[in-house]
Formats: sequence, C-alpha cells, structure tokens
Amino acid sequence: MQTHELRTNRLLLRNWKDDDIAPFIAMGLDERVMNYFPSLQREEQSREFIRKIKEGFDERGWGLWAAQELVGSDFIGFIGIKPILEEFPVTSIQSPLVEIGWRLRAESWNKGFATEGALASLQFGFDTLKLKEIISFTSLLNAPSIRVMQKIGMKRDMAGDFDHPRVSEGSELRRHLLFRITKEDGKQTNLHTPDLQEHRKAIS
Ligand SMILES: CC(C)(COP(=O)(O)OP(=O)(O)OC[C@H]1O[C@@H](n2cnc3c(N)ncnc32)[C@H](O)[C@@H]1OP(=O)(O)O)[C@@H](O)C(=O)NCCC(=O)NCCS
Repeated sequence: MQTHELRTNRLLLRNWKDDDIAPFIAMGLDERVMNYFPSLQREEQSREFIRKIKEGFDERGWGLWAAQELVGSDFIGFIGIKPILEEFPVTSIQSPLVEIGWRLRAESWNKGFATEGALASLQFGFDTLKLKEIISFTSLLNAPSIRVMQKIGMKRDMAGDFDHPRVSEGSELRRHLLFRITKEDGKQTNLHTPDLQEHRKAIS
C-alpha cells in the first residue's frame, strides 16, 4: 500500500523512517512531553508504538504521520489520524471511529505546528477518505492539546466526558474530554475564524 504524504507550509507528514526511532524514544522519556500521560514511555514501548503505526500505514496508507520540518528536515514528532479499533468508552458515538492526535518534541511547541498538521490531517480525512466525523480526546488537564482541538474547530461533546480505562482509578489524569468535528463544522469554523484562515493558508 502506498503511503499518503501531506505537505503544509512548514511540515511534511510522512511514513516513519528508522532515523525517527531514536528521537521518538527520547520524546517518550521526556517528562515534559509525557506530562499528561500516566507514565513515561519506555524504549521498548516506543519501538512497539512505531511498529504498530507502520503496520497501519502498510494496511491503509495513512495514520499517525511522522512530522518533519521542511526547513532543516528535523523529525519533530507525530500528527495524524487513526482508526480506533478497540471498544470506545463513549457508546453514543457510532463506529467506524477515527481519532486525530499529536505528540511533538518540546523544542517544537507553541509554534503552531500541531495545529498546522492537524488541519491538513482533517482535510485529508474529510476530502480524501470521505469520513463523516473525526474525534479526539485528552485528559481534562491537558490544556495545550485541548487548545489545539479548539483551534482546529473541534467542538466538545459535553455529554462525552469519560474515565480512560487505561488510566488507573484515583489518578487526576483519568477524566477525559471528548471533542468531535464533522466536515461541515470544519468548513464553518475555518470560514469565520481569522487565525484558522492563516493556518488554512499554510496547508493550501
Ligand atoms: C499538544 C501539543 C502537540 C501541541 O503542539 P503545539 O505545536 O505546541 O501546538 P500549537 O502551537 O499548534 O498550539 C498550542 C496552543 O496551546 C497553548 N498552550 C500552550 N501551553 C498551554 C498551557 N499550559 N495552558 C493553556 N494553553 C497552552 C498555546 O498558547 C497555543 O494556543 P494559542 O495559539 O491560542 O496561543 C504539544 O504540546 C505536545 O506534544 N504535548 C505533549 C504530548 C501530548 O500531550 N499530546 C496530546 C495527547 S492527547
């Protein structure tokens, strides 16, 4: 299966290469990056994570893309969409479920990269894959991730809060917020929000 690649003004979203493994392992061991996860991601977990992502690219041609800066070619993390194959805790949502997600090295934060790559991923999901809806979720404490969801036009499903089954009971990270977006929502938000117009210019 050929991998779809996405290009924005500043990023190439592509399949993973062996050179990405070491910097991705380093991200998993960085407390800043893993702040809203229950624990750091050990080397073998990161290797397994990449193996699974690449398997998805082989099967479908799309997934959580490795994000590389066009200038300098640095690998900065991942941004993309992926199907949720396991049972999802919020039953009001119909499958097939596709989620959007991101994880970047700390040095690359707050430059709009996640937003830029996420908008390109949404566009691919709606225009190429013809998806009806894309969801996202994160710990209610993860303000930067929530901000990205808002900036790309996702709406919080107020009835969709849930306790993440893989986060232990009693952990302050367990409560998760659910955000959703349809193609129509995306169009409306992008038309009326000036900062998103800037980001949209970056991906066209
Ligand atoms: C979430 C993440 C991918 C965002 O990447 P990014 O490239 O910095 O995102 P952007 O620059 O597009 O936008 C970040 C927004 O969050 C805001 N932000 C950053 N830190 C914040 C904080 N502590 N509280 C509130 N908002 C914050 C920024 O100001 C910016 O919003 P603005 O454009 O309105 O100013 C990045 O922080 C990350 O990799 N975090 C660790 C991994 C992770 O938690 N992934 C998500 C798991 S669900």
